[in-house]
Order: sequence, then structure tokens, then C-alpha cells
Amino acid sequence: MDADLIKLVNKLQDTFANLGGELDMPQLAVVGSQSAGKSSVLETIVGRDFLPRGQGIVTRRPLILQLIHTPVPDPSSSNSQSYTEWGQFLHIDKRFTEFDEIRKEIEQETFRVAGQNKGISKLPIHLRIYSPNVLDLTLVDLPGLTKIPVGDQPSDIERQIRGLVLDYISKSNCVILAVSAANVDLANSESLKLARSVDPQGRRTIGVLTKLDLMDAGTHALDILTGRVYPLKLGFIGVVNRSQQDINSNKSLDDALDHEAEFFKSHAAYRNIAHKNGTKYLAKTLNQVLMNHIRDKLPDMKAKLNTLMGQAQQELNSFGDAAIYGDSNQQGGLILRLMTQFARDFVSSIEGTNADVS
Ligand code: GDP
Ligand code: NA
Ligand code: MG
Repeated sequence: MDADLIKLVNKLQDTFANLGGELDMPQLAVVGSQSAGKSSVLETIVGRDFLPRGQGIVTRRPLILQLIHTPVPDPSSSNSQSYTEWGQFLHIDKRFTEFDEIRKEIEQETFRVAGQNKGISKLPIHLRIYSPNVLDLTLVDLPGLTKIPVGDQPSDIERQIRGLVLDYISKSNCVILAVSAANVDLANSESLKLARSVDPQGRRTIGVLTKLDLMDAGTHALDILTGRVYPLKLGFIGVVNRSQQDINSNKSLDDALDHEAEFFKSHAAYRNIAHKNGTKYLAKTLNQVLMNHIRDKLPDMKAKLNTLMGQAQQELNSFGDAAIYGDSNQQGGLILRLMTQFARDFVSSIEGTNADVS
């Protein structure tokens, strides 16, 4: 049912594109200070190593990452070309089956557009990941919030990055992953400040607390994780990503996830909330939030589609019967007719979905 809903919305989006309209789709965007662990969080959600991460300014262009769940290929299939997981960029016509190559391509594309030296560009990189191991999600990785210009960065870099981040998170259909590092005082969290400026009620912001493993000995974040410090309707989820040393020593994602689960289960302060923390729980929560979001949008989408349909119908009528029933000028009429039929089919399928949901 839920997977069907997402498929329906994807088709709906294609229909809008065919009709020359545009559909504002829900997205999840990560926001946070530089090196808070944004790219690490996205990477563990995807379950593959493919994002440039590290100390300093690594993410310098928005990355719009569309995860597409694909079924496991039939092992009896003779088609040796049927890879289980691959990436596809918008800017290059090539199927990437090596995830290391994806990372290199992101780095090269970043250098190509944003320069060699710490500059930032608003121009997004579009990447689709097809895999049996992902939930259907669209995620946006964003450059980190920063205060002091370095390298080639302009003096107003703070304002520029804020503007760039706001472009994404101010949309009412954007779910905000506000990432904060647990070893920095939450009162100074830039991500929560910015998220609050566009979502004052905390309705579409999920707090993600990284680096729990780096907190001073004897301290913990139980109060934050249980929502007693900062109110967010969707709550806070704690995670432990790979450290720089883990990255340098090529620690596998599976090992990292095991280590993370062990961390929560064995920690005296987190033992009782272990099942509501960690990367796997975050991914599950995200998918749920996204689906609720899409469901809420369905009536709106239907109204927009009806308007587009009406317009197409009018245009169709203006061609006259000749266009509809063949004769001269046939092509334009026929295409419009097919599109109108297509749109009508989708309106009825949405109505079906609404009936199921309520
Ligand atoms: P971004 O700049 O916000 O995208 O942050 P990155 O994902 O690039 O991470 C920055 C650095 O922090 C990297 O060296 C990561 O290994 C490290 N890091 C991120 N999350 C954690 C964590 O939960 N624990 C530890 N120990 N290190 C982390
Ligand atoms: Na970084
Ligand atoms: Mg990053």
C-alpha cells in the first residue's frame, strides 16, 4: 500500500511533466554546520559508500539524491548486465555500478562548477540511486552552514549558504533533517535556528543528533533525545556515524551499523531508548514521514491535475473535430487527446487511493 502510494506519485509527477506543468514534490533536506555529519547521515541512510565526506568543506554544491527501490533481479536471468544497484547522474549518460566511481564523479562535478578552492555553487548535482536496499526517498545534501570565509569564498559566504539552504527548506513540502553534533551545545545549533525560522512550530523538522560517541566522558544527551530540551513534533534521533579514523581505515558500513547498534544497547543512558535511535530507525521514520506528507498533498495534486486537464481539453476543442477524428492537423490533436485521457486515468486512480487511505 505505502509503496504503491509512492509509485502513484512518481507517475503523477511524470504526467505533470508531460502536460507541461510542474509538481512540487516532497523532499528531505539535511541542514547543519560544516562537519556536523550531514553527508555521513545521508550515506548511512542509503546504505552505500558513495558521498565525499571528511573534515572541512567537502559538500560545495547541493546534491539532489533520488533513491529508487528496485526489486532483486531474478538469479536465473541470463542477462549478465542486470546489476542490482547502480547510480545515474543527470549530467552524464552513464550507468555507475561502482560506488567509488560515483564519489569521484561527484567530486569532479563539484570541482568543475564550484572551482578547486572551497567555493560554493547553487547549481545542484542530480543523482539517482537504484537499489533493492533503499526505501523510496528524495534527499538533498547541502553545503554546511559556516561563518568565516576561507579560500576563494566571498566575504558574504555565511549569507550565501543560508540563502542556498533556505531555498530548499523554506518550501512547505520540505522535511528538514536538522543535524547537530552532540559534542557542541545544542543552544548554538545553527541547524535548529535555521529550521525554526521556516518551521516555527517544529512540524516538519526532525532533529538528528550525531557524534554521540564523542561526548565528554560522564555526559550524555538523554534529555535531548527524549524531547525534554527542544520541542520538535517529529522528535530527535541519535546516530553514531563513522569517525574520520573509520573512514581512513575503510571501515565497512555494515560494521559501522553493528557498532552503532551496540553503542546504544550497551550505553547506560541510552539502553532503554536504543530502539528509537540509530540510523535504521532514522531511515524508517523518514519513510513514514514522507508518505504521510505525500498523502496530505493528494487532494492538492488532484485539483492541479484537474485544472491542467481542463486546459488540455480546451486546447483540444480548439482544434475542432478534424483534429480529434483524424484528417489534417492530426498530430497535435491526437497527442492532446492521449494526454487528456492519461490525466483522467490518474485522477480516477487518485480517487481510488484517497478512498483506501481514509
Ligand atoms: P558534513 O560536513 O556535515 O557533511 O559532515 P561529514 O559527514 O563530512 O563528516 C565530517 C567529519 O565528522 C568526518 O570526518 C566524519 O567521519 C566525522 N563524523 C560524522 N559523524 C560522526 C559521528 O557520529 N561520530 C564520529 N566519531 N565522527 C563523525
Ligand atoms: Na565536512
Ligand atoms: Mg557534507
